[in-house]
Amino acid sequence: MTGDELCDRIPYRGTMTTFADSGTETRRHCVERRATVRRYVMTPPRFFAVDYAINPWMDTTTPVDAATALAQWQHLHDLYRRLGHTVDLVDPVPGLPDMVFAANGGLIIDDTAAVARFKYAERKQESVAYAAWLAAHGYPPRQTRHTNEGQGDLLPIGGDILAGYGFRTDLRAHGEIAGIFNRRVISLELIDPRFYHLDTALTVLDDTTIAYYPPAFSYVSRAHLETLFPNAILVDTDDAYAFGLNAVSDGHHVIHPAAAGGFARQLAAAGFEPIGVEMPELLKGGGSVKCCTLEVYS
Ligand code: ARG
Repeated sequence: MTGDELCDRIPYRGTMTTFADSGTETRRHCVERRATVRRYVMTPPRFFAVDYAINPWMDTTTPVDAATALAQWQHLHDLYRRLGHTVDLVDPVPGLPDMVFAANGGLIIDDTAAVARFKYAERKQESVAYAAWLAAHGYPPRQTRHTNEGQGDLLPIGGDILAGYGFRTDLRAHGEIAGIFNRRVISLELIDPRFYHLDTALTVLDDTTIAYYPPAFSYVSRAHLETLFPNAILVDTDDAYAFGLNAVSDGHHVIHPAAAGGFARQLAAAGFEPIGVEMPELLKGGGSVKCCTLEVYS
C-alpha cells in the first residue's frame, strides 16, 4: 500500500507517520499545512532589563544585556518579514522593561480590540502605551474591569478564544472578553507557576490544531483539552521547560525557541515547518517568541 492510500484510510492523529516507498523511507503527513499572511505588532527591547521578578524565570541578580536582547529580537522581526508577514512597531517606553512582551498588550480580532489590564504594578503603565497604539491604528481599545494580560492568556482558535487563568488573567475577565468579541471563550486553568501565561503552555498551530504541555493545566482543564483537541501535539517536559510552546505559527511555519528540539521533530512529523530561533536573553524576563508577538487576528 502506498503512503497516499494509507493517508486515505488512517485518520490524521498528529503523530509521525513513516511510510516506506520502493525502498526509500519517506516521512509523510496526511494534511496540508498552509501558511497565511499575518500581521504582527512588536516592541523593540530598547529598555529591556530584569529589575523586578514577577515570574519564576526572572532573577534580578542575573545580568541582562539589552543589546543582546535587541539583536535576538531583531532576528525574530526580520524572520517574520522574510516569511512575508507584516510587522508594525510600538515605541518602547523607558522604565517599562517588559514592554518587549507585546503579546500582553491586548487582544485584537478584526477591528475589535481589548487593551490589557496588568496584574502587577510594574507593568500597569504599559496599558497606556498599548492603548495609545491601538487607538492610533484604528482599534478603539475596550477595557476590562478585571485583569487580562492580552494574548499572554487569550489565544483565538477558529471562532473561539482559549483563555488561561490561575496566575495572571482573572477568570472574571473571560466573560468580559466573550462579550467584547462576541465569541465563545474556553477557560483553562493553569496550575504551575513556571507556566504562568497560557502562551507558555499551549501553542495554537492553526484553526483546529494545538500543541500543549498537559501538566501545566488542572485536571479538569486537561480533560477539556483532550475532548476539544484529540489530535493535539503533547509536548514533553524538556521542551516545555525550554519554553518551546511560546511559539508562533502562520499555519505552516512554526517559529519556536530553538532549544525545544523534540517539539521541532513533532511539528515536522505533523507536517509543519519548525524554525528554531535563539532568544535566551529575553527568556531571562520569562518570555520568548510568542510573548514578543502581538498578532492582529482576522
Ligand atoms: N516579565 C513578563 C511578565 O512576567 C514576561 C511576560 C511574558 N509574556 C507572555 N506573553 N507570556 O509579565
